[in-house]
Amino acid sequence: MTTDEVTQTLKKAYGDEIETVMNYLTNSIVLEGVSAEEVKESLEADIQEELSHAEMLGQRLKQLDERPPASYDFEAHQESLQPPEDSTDVLSVIDGVLDAEEDAIETYRSLINAARDADDPVTEDLGVTILSDEEAHRTEFRGFKREYDK
Ligand SMILES: [Fe+2]
Ligand SMILES: [Fe+2]
Repeated sequence: MTTDEVTQTLKKAYGDEIETVMNYLTNSIVLEGVSAEEVKESLEADIQEELSHAEMLGQRLKQLDERPPASYDFEAHQESLQPPEDSTDVLSVIDGVLDAEEDAIETYRSLINAARDADDPVTEDLGVTILSDEEAHRTEFRGFKREYDK
C-alpha cells in the first residue's frame, strides 16, 4: 500500500520536471555566443531526459490510481532558471541548472524515503533510477561551472 506522501511527492516531481523542460528549452534557445555552445547542447540532451522522467512519474501515478497534474494545478518556482537579460550570460544559466538539479535530487531523495516507509519498492526503484540521472546532470554542470570559476 502506498501513501499520500508518496503520491504527493510523485505529483510534485512531475510538475518540477515539466517546469525544468520549459526552462531548459527556453535557455537553450536564448543563449548565444562561442562559450554557450557546449551548454546549449547539454541542455538539449537533458530536455529529453527530463521529459522521460515526467513520463515515468506520470505512468507510476496512473498505476497508483492517481493522475499527474496539468497546467491549472501548476505553480512555477524556478526563479534562478529564468533566462538572463544578457543572452551571453552562460554562468547565470549554469547556476540556474545547478539549483534545479539540487532541488530535483532533494525531491527524489524524499520520494525514495517516502516509498521505502510505505513499502512501495516499485516507486522506490523509480526514484533511484531518476536520482542517478539527476546526479549525472549535476556533475556535468559542475564541470561547466568549474571552467567559469577559473
Ligand atoms: Fe529529471
Ligand atoms: Fe536533471
